[in-house]
Amino acid sequence: MLLFLYFSLLFTAITRAQTPVGFSPNVTAHLDVIFSSVAVTPPGMNLTKAAVAKQPTIGTSDEALNGTYLFVMLDIDVPASFTGGAAGTRGVNLHAMLTGFKSSGQTMSGTYILSSVATSPASYLAPAPPAEAPPHPHKYVELLFEQPANWAVPSSQQSAVSNRLGFNLTQFTVAAGLGSPIRANYFQVAG
Ligand SMILES: *[C@@H]1O[C@H](CO)[C@@H](O)[C@H](O)[C@H]1NC(C)=O
Ligand SMILES: *[C@@H]1O[C@H](CO)[C@@H](O)[C@H](O)[C@H]1NC(C)=O
Ligand SMILES: *[C@@H]1O[C@H](CO)[C@@H](O)[C@H](O)[C@H]1NC(C)=O
Ligand SMILES: *[C@@H]1O[C@H](CO)[C@@H](O)[C@H](O)[C@H]1NC(C)=O
Repeated sequence: MLLFLYFSLLFTAITRAQTPVGFSPNVTAHLDVIFSSVAVTPPGMNLTKAAVAKQPTIGTSDEALNGTYLFVMLDIDVPASFTGGAAGTRGVNLHAMLTGFKSSGQTMSGTYILSSVATSPASYLAPAPPAEAPPHPHKYVELLFEQPANWAVPSSQQSAVSNRLGFNLTQFTVAAGLGSPIRANYFQVAG
């Protein structure tokens, strides 16, 4: 019975959603996201603007990944006043899209670090949500995709990536020939 409980808990921990409620796709494998020394765990933790000013280190703890990966970060809580949407609706802003993450061969506190020197196709934009009344913390979702060989942003999506605001992940992944994200995480920052 206890053993059963133990394995149930273990299973629950492993399959826990790493993406916010309502976010599609629902990713259950954890991406380690580490700002200076602050690891984003559990998913959804609150961080200050100062803590997330610089691009995080990313990696995995459950196994070392040996391929080439694309990192994407989205703000999914942009107010309608910025997106031109209906009052009360929330839009998406692309905060980072960085290619070429590979195993660095290094580990840090159990994390197999993935590294890339890329600053494109969309460099890291530090979260700076506006103050709102009532307060509305923004959710920042990090996603890791397998990056196909010789991959580049398709021409049909180049303006979507450079505009950042109104980025549509579903449309992008289809047009760009990407599969589902293999890892994810998210944090919140208040304005
Ligand atoms: C996401 O998947 C996990 C594991 O299957 C599940 O526990 C969770 O309820 C799902 N979340 C949503 C929003 O569907
Ligand atoms: C995060 O901050 C929000 C308010 O900005 C608060 O409602 C929520 O409880 C906080 N979550 C945690 C885990 O502290
Ligand atoms: C990556 O390589 C290491 C060492 O060769 C191996 O132990 C590990 O299973 C590999 N990971 C994957 C996801 O293939
Ligand atoms: C994103 O694109 C998908 C597929 O074209 C579409 O169904 C969805 O409504 C779009 N989302 C937004 C917020 O425009």
